[in-house]
Amino acid sequence: MRRNRFKIAVALGILLPLTAGGNGQERQGRQEQKSSGDESDVLTIGEIMIKAHQPGRSARKALDQRVIDGRATDDEKRRLLALYEALAKAKPEEGSLDDWKRVTKALVEAAQGVVAGQENAAEALKTALNCKACHEKFRPVYGADGSVTADRQFFAASPPPEFALVANVSKDRSKLKLFTSRIVSTMVFQDVVVESEGKKRTEKVPEMRYQREASEVDLAIDAIRVVDGQGNEVAGDDLWRRLAAGNIVLYQESSEPVAKEYLKLLASDALVITQIHRKDK
Ligand code: HEC
Repeated sequence: MRRNRFKIAVALGILLPLTAGGNGQERQGRQEQKSSGDESDVLTIGEIMIKAHQPGRSARKALDQRVIDGRATDDEKRRLLALYEALAKAKPEEGSLDDWKRVTKALVEAAQGVVAGQENAAEALKTALNCKACHEKFRPVYGADGSVTADRQFFAASPPPEFALVANVSKDRSKLKLFTSRIVSTMVFQDVVVESEGKKRTEKVPEMRYQREASEVDLAIDAIRVVDGQGNEVAGDDLWRRLAAGNIVLYQESSEPVAKEYLKLLASDALVITQIHRKDK
């Protein structure tokens, strides 16, 4: 999930979102800001992080720490607020944008509370500022060459559905058979000639053979849930019309809801079969 990196202008509380390779008007806006001589800056999320959280962290002297501990000047409090406002307008390269807006809004509101001198504002900021939780959701992993590696967690939690061929639907509509393409392993015994103490003899040596096959998956209708390419449940007559021997469907071998990342690649009339766990019935 790659998004354009958005650069953000932070200028004494006046914030202008600018795209990295933005259009002429935006570039001009950026230059005007520079030439007007204020302390404007164009910042990426990484740069905001460093300014807000980094220098002096081990000595508890980072900007956020001074604000939380009540050791910051009013200027510094406003500076932290401006940085969080810029953060809220930025787009992370990982994670859901709606979620990002929610998390960063909480940070902005907490920093506003500090600037306004509200009671318990520092405590609220401390709660809103959860480095680890935010990084787990939104911080991309960079390789040695600077390229981004996607977060693997979502892919592990919700396995990708696989293509399957509807083999058979029982007359009473209680059972469904699918063909899926699987690697099947079989053990074979090979005759191998071994020589010991000058004598030759043959020995049976086991060997694994791997072969791709269309294997059968038998499903009870009451143990599956079927959704279309928009994630809506398909059931009843509508399901039977669309679920016929010879059709290609998708089969997800788990009871997780089909992730929206997969659904958005599907035609709206695609069918995705998932399992229902006994306990969710
Ligand atoms: C609202 C979410 C959020 C919170 C809260 C947050 N971070 Fe980050 N941080 C990010 C994201 C996203 C990145 C990755 C930016 C990128 O490189 O694209 C990041 C990157 C960083 C980096 C690397 C910056 C660089 O480019 O070298 C540091 C250091 C950092 N964060 C420190 C912290 C610390 C310390 C805290 C807690 C006091 C914290 N962050 C809280 C979202 C957050």
